[in-house]
This record gives sequence, structure tokens and C-alpha cells, in this order.
Amino acid sequence: MTLLDIFPSLRSGGLLPRLDPAVWPRDTHYDAEGRITVGGVALADIADQHGTPTYVLDENEVRDRCRAYRKRFPDAEIIYAGKALLTRAVAEWIADEGLSLDVCSAGELAVALASWVDPARIVLHGNGKPFAELETAINCGVGRIVVDSVTEINLLAALAAEPQRVLVRVTPDIDVHGHPAVRTGVTDQKFGFPIGSDALTDAVDRIVRQPNLELVGLHCHIGSQIYDTFPYGEAVRRMIAEMARLRDDLGVTLTDLDLGGGHAVAYRSGDAEMNLPELADIIEDSLDAACARHGFPRPALSLEPGRAIVARAGVTLYRVLSVKHVENGHTYVTVDGGMSDNPRVALYGAGYEAVVANRHPTGPHMTVTLAGRHCEAGDILARDIRLPADLRPGEIIAMPCTGAYHHSLASSYNGIGRPPIVAVRDGESREIVRRETIDDLMSRDIGC
Ligand code: LLP
Repeated sequence: MTLLDIFPSLRSGGLLPRLDPAVWPRDTHYDAEGRITVGGVALADIADQHGTPTYVLDENEVRDRCRAYRKRFPDAEIIYAGKALLTRAVAEWIADEGLSLDVCSAGELAVALASWVDPARIVLHGNGKPFAELETAINCGVGRIVVDSVTEINLLAALAAEPQRVLVRVTPDIDVHGHPAVRTGVTDQKFGFPIGSDALTDAVDRIVRQPNLELVGLHCHIGSQIYDTFPYGEAVRRMIAEMARLRDDLGVTLTDLDLGGGHAVAYRSGDAEMNLPELADIIEDSLDAACARHGFPRPALSLEPGRAIVARAGVTLYRVLSVKHVENGHTYVTVDGGMSDNPRVALYGAGYEAVVANRHPTGPHMTVTLAGRHCEAGDILARDIRLPADLRPGEIIAMPCTGAYHHSLASSYNGIGRPPIVAVRDGESREIVRRETIDDLMSRDIGC
């Protein structure tokens, strides 16, 4: 008889706070051997089969998040922000779930097109779009381009043979007080045209005078990891007022409003996350009120969630390389990954949880600093993590909520290739992105 026979509740991840469903994929459990499973597959088996570090991605979790958005915003277009994580499989899943796709480079566009995403449902973003990218986007029939500068208007006007639909990016002067790196709603910054500015009026005027550009609407993206719904209501009020002003000043009636993304997820138990029903209500109410106030026809709404679609679907697996107790200091557990597969800790001071995945520990625990293997003292993956006191090299550590801005931000720093992505679904696993090998790294270095 095993412990699990005596305490069957141990089998259910939901009852154990460290497998909090707010942070882990919904289909996360302990199996009969006490190992963590995601999508019906034991994480330890994935580590054995594919090596470590490895990103595990729960397909059903991604699809469920897409469905949650479509259910909560039945009249809005949901445009997945591919910068959070874009692979051919992910592009197929989101297209299959009826989402459109936001890309911000020719590289992302190529992945989208390779996945047979309808070009008409692709939106191209970026404050600096090289000529060749604009040309590629126009040639392959990208549905909308979000204009970010006057130079771009001139280039598009020169390139487009048929009317190209565009939006103009606006900074609505909303400060969500997030990390400075992702505060995109404030006026003094590289993105967009300031709301109410002559520069914006001028940009709109220039576009509408181009016969081959069709201006459909305005776009704003106020920031990232936002859990408060109020700024979105404020963004709606300001953007509708601006659309009314442009109508009054220039006689242009815009039909589309894209509110960007930025919806927060919980990285650790207890973290605040965006409440979708509340967000839907505040956007709906603000739209109704603002349109009535300005006598403006209700625009077609779109949202661009990235993180909120994929973050919780991802779990990163590492293998323990060493456990070091520093006298009068911390205990460092070094794993075989680090800032090359997760630069978010170093970049934004992000916090994560981590657990041992190959067994269900029942004995005493210790508090550790989870360290990466890179040659920097700052390469720390998580602090104050509770792990079994008898943790040994070779054991598997799983870090949840690593589906967004992990693979897409990864590098090959220190000559360490990027991890593979293994998708799990209904008890099956398959590699959707392979590991970057030393041969891959060497193949770019053509010598002297
Ligand atoms: N739309 C636009 C125009 C964006 O620039 C972004 C993100 C999104 C949508 C999606 O935002 P999300 O829903 O994923 O927050 N590397 C940072 C995040 C950078 C976000 C950049 N833009 C991180 O790891 O936190």
C-alpha cells in the first residue's frame, strides 16, 4: 500500500496549494507514482524522453483560453499577439479556435503563413517596420497594418497596388504604472501618435488622402500584465472621444477600435490576474456610454491578448545539477537552464514558483534560491522556493506559467541552445519545436 492509497487526495493537484490551478494548466495532476502530469503526460517522462531544459505546452489549455475570450467577447475580434509565443502549431491552434493573429516582423509573418493562417486575418505591428517587411506584408495580402510613423505612411502609399487597410496607433496618455519596459500607453515614448495631437491629425489626414490606403480605425495598447479593468474603460472613453474629434475635424468616420492586449496572468499563487467577465463589462459599458455621449456609431472592437492565451499553458522542465549550502548564506539549487530560456527574471524582476516534478515530496522542505547555469551571478530563476530537503542532482524541477515570452525571448547565451517545445494533449506528447543543437549554433558561424 502506498501513501497515495492511504491519502487519495494527494492525487488531485487541485487540493494541493503548490499546484494552484490559477498558475498551472487546468489538467495538472499527480499520478499514481506521485509524479506531476500535465495534459495526461508525466513531466518526468517528457524530461527523460526529450532532455532538459524543455518547455511543455498544454494544447487544450491554449485552446480553452481562446474559447474563454471568444465566449466573453462574442462580438469582438480576438487577435492573438504572436510575440508571446509563435510556432506553426500554436498558429494553427489559435486559427482553428477562430482567433486572428498579430505579428510584428517578417519572421513572425513567415510562421503565420506557413501555418496557413488566412493573411486577411493577420495584423502587422511595430514602431519600426523595415521597407522589405512592409513590401512582404502587402504582397502576401496582410489584412491590416498598424501605422506608427509618417515615414511608414509614405512607404505604404508607394507600395500598395490595391487599397491596403490600415489603423493608426495612438498613445492614449494612460499610465498603468507597470514595469517601465511595458508601459506603452503614456505619451512620451517610441510607439504611436499622442492622442489629441496635431501629429495624429496630420497622420490621419495624410492617410485618407492616399487613394490606395483605407484607414479603418485606431489602435492603442496601454501596457502589459494589467489586472485592473479601469484603465481599459478609460482607454475606450478616450479613444471614442478621439474618433469623434477626427470625424468633426476631418470628416473621417472610423469604424474599428483595437484596444491591444496586456491582460495579466498569475505567475504565483495569490497574484492578481485579469478578470475577463469584468473586463468585458467595463469595455461594453464604456463603449455604450462614450458612443452615446459623442453620437458616434459603435465601432467594431478588437482585442490582442498574448500572455493571457499562452502563459499558463507552459511549464518549463529543468534537471537539478547541484545543491549547494553556503555557510551563513542561501542554499543554491543550480539547474541546467537559466536566463537563456527565461530572461524575464533578469529583465523585469519577474517571480516564479517551482516544484519537484518526479515525486510527490512528503518529508521536510528547505528554502532555496533556484539558480541558472549561466556565467552571471544575476542568473537566478526564482528566490525563496520551497523544495524537498533531500533534493538530489538529477531530479526534475517544473516551473509553471512559462508559456508566454519565454520561448519567444530565449537566446543561446553562453552557447546553450534554446530548449524544444513539447506539446501535450489527452495523454499524448509531441515535439513541436526541436532543441537548438550545437550544430545549429555552429552552422551560423562561417569563420574567417
Ligand atoms: N498588442 C501589442 C501591440 C503589443 O505590443 C503587445 C505586447 C500585445 C498586444 C500583447 O500583450 P500581452 O497581452 O501579451 O501583455 N516581454 C514582456 C512583454 C512585452 C509585451 C510587448 N507587447 C514580458 O515578458 O512581460
